[in-house]
Amino acid sequence: MPKIPIRLQPITAEATVPLRHAILWPDLPIDKQLMPLDTLPTTRHFGAFIALSEPGENIQELQGRDPSDPVLAIDQDYLPQAGECQLPVGVMTLCLEEFTNKGVLPTEITAAGPTEIQLHKFAVLAALQGLGIGGQMIRQVCQMLPTLDMDKAGSSGPSSEAGLKIPRPVLFHFHARKSQREVYMHWGFATLGDDVFLKRGPTGTGNPVEYIRMGRLITLG
Ligand SMILES: CC(C)(COP(=O)(O)OP(=O)(O)OC[C@H]1O[C@@H](n2cnc3c(N)ncnc32)[C@H](O)[C@@H]1OP(=O)(O)O)[C@@H](O)C(=O)NCCC(=O)NCCS
Repeated sequence: MPKIPIRLQPITAEATVPLRHAILWPDLPIDKQLMPLDTLPTTRHFGAFIALSEPGENIQELQGRDPSDPVLAIDQDYLPQAGECQLPVGVMTLCLEEFTNKGVLPTEITAAGPTEIQLHKFAVLAALQGLGIGGQMIRQVCQMLPTLDMDKAGSSGPSSEAGLKIPRPVLFHFHARKSQREVYMHWGFATLGDDVFLKRGPTGTGNPVEYIRMGRLITLG
């Protein structure tokens, strides 16, 4: 089955909520899904939207694929024809946040003096999981990270005279669900330290889930 092409674009914190609720913390009410971190000026949210393979492609082609194609089973609101109302099929949140357990970092990471960016709340629509959408999101965001402006005034990190961000190394780190460890390793991330800890969602009252710390140094090229 061909990979579903996606377009990764910035979205609001609120736009992440339906997928967070459906996939990550279904036992928490919808109005408890956002955390204070989500509205910081340095936080960025991205959504993956199903895209047409080529600019002129007809939406009928997307729908006229193999009848077993899971894209055919999802709500029309996730398809490009929904226009401005199109819903994301994947979400992720990036925060300027230090890796707390510096002692476990290998020297090649600390020596690079990286900007530290934490991935939060990564989720793909259940019907489309395992079809390459999460992988495309991670690969695209990793390419963007060295030059991604994470500062509201555009002044964090070195800037060129033209105001463009000068690429800098980034430690891209996160708390991974232990169950997803192999998938992240497949994408080039390593476990950072041996800790396994429990989290219970944004309110601290959800069902406990086991987490580990993972990350990767990202440089340009
Ligand atoms: C985790 C999640 C975001 C990944 O998105 P996805 O669209 O399902 O993932 P993809 O299909 O793009 O990628 C899976 C990749 O891992 C690989 N993979 C899957 N299982 C694997 C395993 N056990 N070992 C190694 N690689 C594995 C696949 O081959 C695929 O590789 P590719 O990117 O080279 O194609 C999604 O499954 C999800 O929302 N899960 C539930 C919520 C969750 O656990 N979120 C993460 C919290 S840490």
